[in-house]
Amino acid sequence: MSQSYRPIIWKDDTLLLLDQRLLPQTETFVEVKDLKGCALAIKDMIVRGAPCIGFTAIYGMALWVKAQSSLTVASCRNACDEMISARPTAVNLSFEVNRCFEIMKNGLAENQSKEDLYKKLVAFGDLQIKESHEKNTAMAKIGFEELKKKVGDKKWRLMTHCNTGFLACGSLGTALGVISYANSQGQVEYVYADETRPYMQGTRLTAFELSKENIPYSIVVEGAASYLLSHNKVDAIFVGADRIAANGDTANKVGTSTLAIVAKHYNIPFYVVAPVSSFDVTIPDGSHIEIEMRPINEITELKGIKLAPEGANAVNPSFDVTDHQFITGIICEKGFINPKNPGELVRVVQS
Ligand code: MRU
Repeated sequence: MSQSYRPIIWKDDTLLLLDQRLLPQTETFVEVKDLKGCALAIKDMIVRGAPCIGFTAIYGMALWVKAQSSLTVASCRNACDEMISARPTAVNLSFEVNRCFEIMKNGLAENQSKEDLYKKLVAFGDLQIKESHEKNTAMAKIGFEELKKKVGDKKWRLMTHCNTGFLACGSLGTALGVISYANSQGQVEYVYADETRPYMQGTRLTAFELSKENIPYSIVVEGAASYLLSHNKVDAIFVGADRIAANGDTANKVGTSTLAIVAKHYNIPFYVVAPVSSFDVTIPDGSHIEIEMRPINEITELKGIKLAPEGANAVNPSFDVTDHQFITGIICEKGFINPKNPGELVRVVQS
């Protein structure tokens, strides 16, 4: 199912994005025609989730190249920077766009035609999505083996936060990929999906994905974590990442760090699962990660209905940083990282 159900479709020179703002009630695709439309789709969260933001941006750069009458290295750089500014926290966006820039720069140095560059960028986007399935599968298997070692052979009760399945990753998923794979091996007893306030990725998207895969689950408010963990309802927690610093500090959806701290208190293993494209080893720790502040009406309103009194203030950081000391393990396609071992993360990521 995760192979055939795709949130990003490139077809006949057109980018189609599943409008994730309308899920699960409505499944409809939005047609994106140019760089500005693509950046807006990322900013407005028509498409979201760190890996999918990166893949979408690649096709956005292809659309931009196609629309130009002439190309220079400087104009390519400006267009890349415009795309990167769509959302600040997920490093996958700049990771993929900077790789597009290298393709463009090298192509220009070799006098390649605009048509060739366009085709190269489209092929690059297609390849990244295809390879992401292999990477997610590799991570799922590493997570599965870790659970067998840490929790044992009984069926597992797992918890997750935000959305990390095929809607966020294009295929299978990262944290949810581990859960989905474990379920395919008959090892999942139950999943608790945090509702993920205020944007409700858990209620709307993770529950949608778990339903599609017939995995037994309950949605819980994030405030229920302490209750569930203290009553021995959860064997392990899996989350994704938007940016992981060299020391293992991890930016992920707001609420993740609270969950990790509670997990540490109750001695529940807490894992981060993310591809190498979500790592940023240029920064030493999480204090260097820019946290996106989103509009306050995501908090004060629900689907256009006002909840808070007129004029109420709100603060809406979309992500937070989990200190690496609260993370049991970080899983990427290159292997398992114990963030408590200094230097291990950089060694694995650069291997
Ligand atoms: O704001 P979003 O919905 O793009 O945030 C998504 C998350 O924080 C995910 O947990 C993270 O990107 C990992 S995606 C596999």
